[in-house]
This record gives sequence, C-alpha cells and structure tokens, in this order.
Amino acid sequence: MKATHITTVVAALACALSLPVQAGGDPIKGRDKTSMCAGCHGIPGWRTAYPATYHVPKLGGQHEEYLVAALKQYKSGERNHPSMKAIAASLTEEDMQNLAAYYASSYSGPSK
Ligand code: HEC
Repeated sequence: MKATHITTVVAALACALSLPVQAGGDPIKGRDKTSMCAGCHGIPGWRTAYPATYHVPKLGGQHEEYLVAALKQYKSGERNHPSMKAIAASLTEEDMQNLAAYYASSYSGPSK
C-alpha cells in the first residue's frame, strides 16, 4: 500500500512538473503563504515534520480541487478541527486557490 502511494505521488509530481499550466490558483503566490502551514505540515509541499508524534495529512501532490474543498470545509465548519478552522478562517478564497495550486504542483522555485 505504501509503495502504491509513493508511485502515485511520483506520478503526480512528474505530471505537475511537465504541465506548468495551472487550473486556477497561482503556485508562486501560494508559496509565499506556506510559512503559516509549514510548522505543522512540514516541508512545504512534501511531507509532514513529525508523522510519528503528530498526525498531519500530507498536502504535496494532492489534487488542487481537493485541497481547496478541504480548506473551505474547515472555514465553513463542515470540517471541525480547531487548528485548521482557525487557519482557514484567515484565508481568502484566492489564498486557498493559490495554496492549493502550490501544494498540488509541489512547486519548488524561488519564493520571492
Ligand atoms: C497548528 C497546526 C496546523 C497548521 C498551522 C496548519 N495545519 Fe492544516 N492540518 C492540521 C491538522 C492537524 C490537520 C488534520 C485535521 C483533521 O483531522 O481534520 C490538517 C489538515 C489540513 C488539510 C486537509 C488535508 C486532507 O487530506 O484532508 C488541508 C488541505 C490543510 N490542513 C491545509 C493547510 C494549509 C494550506 C495551511 C496553511 C495556510 C495549514 N493547513 C496550516 C494542522 C495544521
């Protein structure tokens, strides 16, 4: 199961790298916002910092639409995790799209 998951991530990355066209958000703007996510979600766009002690979902390589939907659900209260609710409440829809575009593409270029 783990190997399948890694293969999927690699395939998604390869796809993202060969297809610079983004669905909606701007990954470069999104990257500038990831400083508020990195403390919990670890290396931006890739893996969690402390998967053994604190379970946090990996964001990198997820579908952009899925990430935007999840953030909206935290903001609306449909998903009810206290930390993510507070984070999502501070994000505009554009921020969510940019962040999702960044994490979906795992863009790793310059941040400024
Ligand atoms: C205080 C720690 C913390 C911070 C900061 C944080 N997150 Fe999270 N995030 C979590 C935890 C814990 C979960 C799992 C919550 C749950 O079980 O619903 C989560 C879940 C998510 C999910 C849902 C993932 C999934 O697979 O369903 C998304 C998307 C997400 N975070 C995005 C972000 C973004 C974008 C930022 C920065 C703007 C951010 N998070 C900042 C702790 C954090």
